[in-house]
Amino acid sequence: MEFSIKSGSPEKQRTACVVVGVFEPRRLSPAAEALDNVSDGFLSTVLRRGDMEGKIGATLLIHNLHGAMADRVLLVGCGRERDISDKQYRQIIGSAVTRLNETGTMEATCYLTEINVKNRALHWKVRHALESCQDSLYRADTLKTKKDGIRRPLRKLVFSVPRRSDLGNGEMAVREGEAIAEGVSLAKDLGNLPGNICTPGYLAKQTRALGKKYTKLKVDILQQTQLEKLGMGAFLSVAKGSREAPYLIVAEYKGGGKQKPIVMVGKGITFDAGGISIKPSAAMDEMKYDMCGAASVLGTLAACCELQLPINLVVLIPTCENLPDGAANKPGDIVTSMSGKTIEVLNTDAEGRLALCDALTYAERFKPDSVIDVATLTGACVVALGHHASGVLGNHHPLVHELTNAGKSSGDRVWELPLWDEYQDQLKSNFADIPNIGGRDGGTITAACFLSRFAKKYHWAHMDIAGTAWVSGEKKGATGRPVPLLTQFLIDRCAAKTSSTKNASKK
Ligand code: BES
Ligand code: MN
Ligand code: ZN
Repeated sequence: MEFSIKSGSPEKQRTACVVVGVFEPRRLSPAAEALDNVSDGFLSTVLRRGDMEGKIGATLLIHNLHGAMADRVLLVGCGRERDISDKQYRQIIGSAVTRLNETGTMEATCYLTEINVKNRALHWKVRHALESCQDSLYRADTLKTKKDGIRRPLRKLVFSVPRRSDLGNGEMAVREGEAIAEGVSLAKDLGNLPGNICTPGYLAKQTRALGKKYTKLKVDILQQTQLEKLGMGAFLSVAKGSREAPYLIVAEYKGGGKQKPIVMVGKGITFDAGGISIKPSAAMDEMKYDMCGAASVLGTLAACCELQLPINLVVLIPTCENLPDGAANKPGDIVTSMSGKTIEVLNTDAEGRLALCDALTYAERFKPDSVIDVATLTGACVVALGHHASGVLGNHHPLVHELTNAGKSSGDRVWELPLWDEYQDQLKSNFADIPNIGGRDGGTITAACFLSRFAKKYHWAHMDIAGTAWVSGEKKGATGRPVPLLTQFLIDRCAAKTSSTKNASKK
């Protein structure tokens, strides 16, 4: 898909289709009105006849509108003009694009960016139009021999901006949107691939490929023997039940000179059967998604490389499988982490934190500005927050706040859970320094408490994406979350830095 920005009146567009909004009840948007004026009120007539109310999601395609230079006009229902929310805006774009794709329109000029979304400016509207568009066109069909191929798919979408002076702003928004959409799509692809294809080795290979593509990116894959030397006994214990070799993927993006890096750690369990504490078989296929933390930090890395952000970013991915086997971890086993702390593995299904804790210790060597780990860590998070917000917890409030804000503006939201000392008391072992589980109550919080013990030397936040990384049921598939949030966080960081250096030079 190709995206661009243009300013000009709708009746003058020589294109296969002009896309304009209709509000409830039967009210034309400004662009629709311009078309109405050149066609002797034809659009008004259509609405009066009752063909379109303006309900969100409704579309009506009109051919050869008199007075307009485009082949077609697509009317898109936008709901009530007063209160269009972020979500409704995305829905409006989604239905427009789906319809365009079905009608044989290969290029179109879209005026939906003119509609008012509460508290959102043009940059946001263009970027999110692009993201929603890519989101609704995504198909996970790489492994289908017969793709439900669309004969004439949408190839080119032009977003209209009101004034020529808006072109630069719009183009920036397109660039950001494209980078984020690409990161999201990479994260979806990796997440959707089955465990027999997306193995730890496959994740390593894909990261290497990113390293080839971007010159500012250096990739290092640590093998089992190196991990043994580092003393990563917690992470390696998870891999013992699997025939696939474990890796620690290390990717360093250098765009920020001597700045301290941001480290992002992604849980990369390519299949989680639970190990000896085996999971029930219902929906166990979904545990192929247990590497979505890894997929999202890779997607974010790709977006960061595309945008060439002036920042340093390190991505760490401990990756392996969690399977039952004669050599696997057993409940009660005690392992020694890289930090030196001993861990009693009371439940082999609480494997994510075992892999992550060693990666968190490894992160220390980068002298990070902050560390953010992302993991499909607990079923309890799905119980607590459902599928709309990811959980976030951390040891440094400003960092959690930054992530929360990035979530709000990117439409990829998080909700903070408390990481109070009282919860730490649930982590007591009679035989080791710490157990790997803290009981049923507050499972997301005690999992974060466990991680916090390994994240003492830097500012740290943990995101539990168990409820947001994929959807189940009929529309089963990875969502690519939280790539939009994490990329937004990096973009905001860069903006804050530029404005603070500007202010400094002003002084
Ligand atoms: N990968 C799972 C978490 C998970 C479960 C994500 C369901 C999405 C849906 C994780 O490794 C796990 O098994 N966690 C256990 C922890 C428990 C044993 C303390 C869980 O949540 O049941
Ligand atoms: Mn598990
Ligand atoms: Zn898991």
